[in-house]
Amino acid sequence: MPHVTPASPRPGPARLLAAAAPLRRTGFLPSRAPVLTLPGPFAALTSLISALAAAYGAGGVRPLIREAASGWPADLTRQADALTPDEQDALLSAAAILMHLYRWDAVPVHPDRFHEVPDFPHALEGLFRHLSAARGLPPCGGLYTLKYLNWRSSDVAPGAVYDAATLHAGNVRIAHSWQSGEAGEQLDLWIQTFVLAEARGQAVMVAGLDAVQAAHEHDRDALAGALEALHHAIRAVAREINVFTRFHVIRTDLWRVLTQPTFGWGLTERGTLLEGASGLQLGATQFADLTLGVPFSGPLGAALLASRAYLPPEQRALLSAWDAHHGDVRAAVQAWGDSRARDLYGACVQNMERWRVSHRERGAAYLRGDGRSHVMASTGTQFEAGVPHDQAFRDLMTTRVDDTRSRRLGPDGD
Ligand code: HEM
Repeated sequence: MPHVTPASPRPGPARLLAAAAPLRRTGFLPSRAPVLTLPGPFAALTSLISALAAAYGAGGVRPLIREAASGWPADLTRQADALTPDEQDALLSAAAILMHLYRWDAVPVHPDRFHEVPDFPHALEGLFRHLSAARGLPPCGGLYTLKYLNWRSSDVAPGAVYDAATLHAGNVRIAHSWQSGEAGEQLDLWIQTFVLAEARGQAVMVAGLDAVQAAHEHDRDALAGALEALHHAIRAVAREINVFTRFHVIRTDLWRVLTQPTFGWGLTERGTLLEGASGLQLGATQFADLTLGVPFSGPLGAALLASRAYLPPEQRALLSAWDAHHGDVRAAVQAWGDSRARDLYGACVQNMERWRVSHRERGAAYLRGDGRSHVMASTGTQFEAGVPHDQAFRDLMTTRVDDTRSRRLGPDGD
């Protein structure tokens, strides 16, 4: 039986649970599997993506996109309003990819592209801005539009309701690839890494919500049970990521030059440098941080908070409702949790710390590559043409390792 304290000084999690309700099955992945085919004139946008692959790896895609866009109906944007919400999401994803390919033109990326604001074809830019605004997103590709809306699975029909647990390595592939050959295989693996990490993130979210609820109900058994589930879920996220970020799977030499630059956005919008698809937008780690009460105090913590602007509104709403409960689970563990809860809380903190150290070390190796100079487009916190600063990256990641480490419990559980 739960032990109920009559007058809890903290507000209950009703708002948090209500914000989480629509996201419970799939976390930050779309609630229905991405729609892969679009009706009427919109089909031309998705088929254009794969048709650009050869030019993206050679002379550049801009003339091809300009030519294709000149043949689109004049009222294309107006017609988009009649699509279903899932179709609009699919169209937004396709438009984001096309804008992105136009923005970079070709890989390896030419240094001139970094500070150039391209003159996008009006039909494409108008459609993209309209759909982005309607979805409550800034006008740039993000994790949601470039990756989470761009997969298919042999076990989930397009447009169907599904559970995140259905997705596993082996049944998820990129839906619309813009690269071919080895570069295409690498792009596919990179998309899979994020989709599968976020699929495992759904279990982090549910365990985290259960922990918050148990904290409020003063339920010792439920708290320990939720922390155990959280522990497994965090490990599953780390495992999923680490299986892909091995040098013989996602290759450092190809990733730096052919894959990674296809995700930074880096154009300014009203003075703000737009991020692009960044790891900062991963829900899985944000859920774990919020449950464990990891402070967002260092520069990377601040970047994580700022990156919420790139999430769809329902995801932003969940995180902002969770902010009100940031310290609840830790406070419960310290105040009345049993030794099992304390051990499991400590194990979760340790796992997040270890994942962050491994992300720092692997990330540094990927950025360093063979040490030869090359041009790459980083996202989020760093955006520059040139060899990325290995040490600056490490220092930044260490600030988040420190934020995480600060949640370690002392020998007396405090
Ligand atoms: C292996 C090559 C990788 C490199 C070089 C790398 C690089 C970076 C960089 C530079 C940042 C700072 C934010 C930014 O500027 O975008 C970052 C943050 C982050 N990345 Fe990665 N990343 C890599 C792989 C991944 C993967 C595969 C994932 C997850 C699927 C991931 C998840 C994250 C998360 C969650 C953050 C936010 C910081 C944190 O919560 O500790 N990264 N990464």
